Amino acid sequence: MANLLISGASGFIGSWLTATLSRQGHSLYLLLRQPGQLPALRAQCQARGGNPAHLHALAGDLQHPGLGLDEPPLLARGISQIIHLGAQFAWGLPREQAERCNVAGSLALTQLASRLQARLLLVGGFMLGNPAHLAELGIDPQHPAHSDWDRLYRRAGTYEASKLQAHYQSCALARQLQVPYNVVHPGTLCGHSQSGHLNPSQPLYELLDNLAQGRLHGIPGSPAHWLPLISVDLLVALLASLVERPLANGSELLALDPHSPSLGELLALLAEELDVAAPSRYVPMGLLAALLRLPGAERLLHSRRESLAFIRRERYDCTPLQAELQARQLVWPDLRQTLRASARHYRDSRSQAAQCSDTGSRHGRMRDPDAATDSPHERFDPTA
Ligand SMILES: NC(=O)c1ccc[n+]([C@@H]2O[C@H](COP(=O)([O-])OP(=O)(O)OC[C@H]3O[C@@H](n4cnc5c(N)ncnc54)[C@H](OP(=O)(O)O)[C@@H]3O)[C@@H](O)[C@H]2O)c1
Repeated sequence: MANLLISGASGFIGSWLTATLSRQGHSLYLLLRQPGQLPALRAQCQARGGNPAHLHALAGDLQHPGLGLDEPPLLARGISQIIHLGAQFAWGLPREQAERCNVAGSLALTQLASRLQARLLLVGGFMLGNPAHLAELGIDPQHPAHSDWDRLYRRAGTYEASKLQAHYQSCALARQLQVPYNVVHPGTLCGHSQSGHLNPSQPLYELLDNLAQGRLHGIPGSPAHWLPLISVDLLVALLASLVERPLANGSELLALDPHSPSLGELLALLAEELDVAAPSRYVPMGLLAALLRLPGAERLLHSRRESLAFIRRERYDCTPLQAELQARQLVWPDLRQTLRASARHYRDSRSQAAQCSDTGSRHGRMRDPDAATDSPHERFDPTA
């Protein structure tokens, strides 16, 4: 069994991954900016069938120089792999904050992997597998160092720009330092296929919330627009399997269900499960983007222009993923059932949140009923 360092272990994907890896017997060193989260993370891990005794906290912060880690004791722990999930995952991030956490943090972890002589498992995002999108942004995947990052930050949302920059620069650094690495690019996460568990900070949760509150008056795009999805349990099973049996050095894998429904079908399915009306009219993407540029429109329409970039028409080649899943005996959960479970989980978490606010908890703040802590580091929302 291996000693692994994980960033982002308190997040949605990370918290499920720690349960799986600890159950498999790995010792997990969690880079936490709030190490006081450990007891709650251990309790959550146990509730999810993991082994809480295998979780250990390392005080650190992706935004700090040297990750804020006390490195000499770390060097003695024999860490053989680093799994990097930590990121500021939010709309409307200030560029400086996104670069410090998502880009500089990722580069610092790559350098740490070199010093520890550890393998690196990076998590990017599915837009990195969309050549048309990259070309529109002026990125040549064969020569990413030629990219004009300032222009990219002006054209793409800050979160996305920082993820793209982090990906290309971290991979280049890993190659330069001869750190063995793999990258997984997940689609948008839906909940756990059994429980439907979904954190309130997740984009799909926000979509469910807008739908349930009757705030969606149109379907962005056309019947061909879609949001590639993957359930958190399948993604976690894949990541855990890659820890045991990595891909060839430098390989990247898109992790999304190519049969994800179109956005219109997705909204109809979720609305049916929530027992609310689904929007039926399509709003052309260009018109919506232009509307959202108007002052106050994002707040009025409960949509972020930045989030529209993830809704596209292009389909992806998932043959390599299908082959890996088959080779690793991993099975796709039924996506439509998973989406229904996610909607039910959303509804239950809302009613729990309402009960909490009735009994005097903080007003207007949705909390994940399964969350390990009530983290203050919520998604940054300048319109809030
Ligand atoms: N969810 C999706 O739909 C999706 C899709 C594609 C790719 N991804 C990528 O997958 C990764 C994990 O996503 P997620 O959905 O699990 O995100 P998440 O729930 O928002 O979790 C983010 C994690 O990063 C940690 N973090 C944030 N800033 C940090 C800092 N300065 N130092 C150390 N840790 C910090 C958070 O810790 P705190 O507890 O301290 O806040 C949390 O554990 C991210 O890289 C994301 O870009 C996600």
